[in-house]
Amino acid sequence: MNEAQALQWLDGWARAGKPFSGPPSWRRAKAAALCAIERELGPLRILDVGVGDMRHLVEWGELVQAEYLGIDGSLAVVQQRQREHPILDFACIPFSRLVESSGLPMTPNVILLWDVLYHIPDDALHDALIRWVFEQPADVVAVSWAQPTAPPTNPAALWFPRPWPGPPPGWDGIFAAEELSLPHHQRMEVYRRAT
Ligand SMILES: C[S@@+](CC[C@H](N)C(=O)[O-])C[C@H]1O[C@@H](n2cnc3c(N)ncnc32)[C@H](O)[C@@H]1O
Repeated sequence: MNEAQALQWLDGWARAGKPFSGPPSWRRAKAAALCAIERELGPLRILDVGVGDMRHLVEWGELVQAEYLGIDGSLAVVQQRQREHPILDFACIPFSRLVESSGLPMTPNVILLWDVLYHIPDDALHDALIRWVFEQPADVVAVSWAQPTAPPTNPAALWFPRPWPGPPPGWDGIFAAEELSLPHHQRMEVYRRAT
């Protein structure tokens, strides 16, 4: 499987109206992370890498005050979210193209990379995306990943869990949460650039 095939599968999932966001406890953990980030940074300028259904952002409730750009490789996801949130910005960009791009149409202070890494079939793209995210001029990066030790119950085609390599030097952890009730054990960490 390559990225284009994975995206075709994800696009079909979105078109069928299937949820991306996980159980309420996991969404609450993400909303709590956003509150913690907002306490650190004040008004947020969010780059959301892998938008899905945005439930955590909607449940966080401050979206209208945040500057927001959501990127996703599924056109169905981008079109659905744009319809629901006309004042926010969305772009349909596969991660393979994102990591080649040097400029963004906004300057984020926080980048979200939540529940996307295990959808990437290719190790090189997985590593390149993590590198790209930490190279951007944001102050905070929030990442979640699936623990590779748990038994996969997701459709095999979309399940590529890998160990988390950790942030590059110069980043401190400020928030962490785990979700054990999902079929696959997931962990989230939020990092702030050390001053
Ligand atoms: C499980 S959803 C996560 C959504 C959201 N970040 C959350 O935490 O609920 C994963 C999203 O990543 C997108 N995605 C996965 N692989 C991608 C790729 N290679 N390029 C662009 N988007 C991708 C999917 O289309 C999907 O919308």
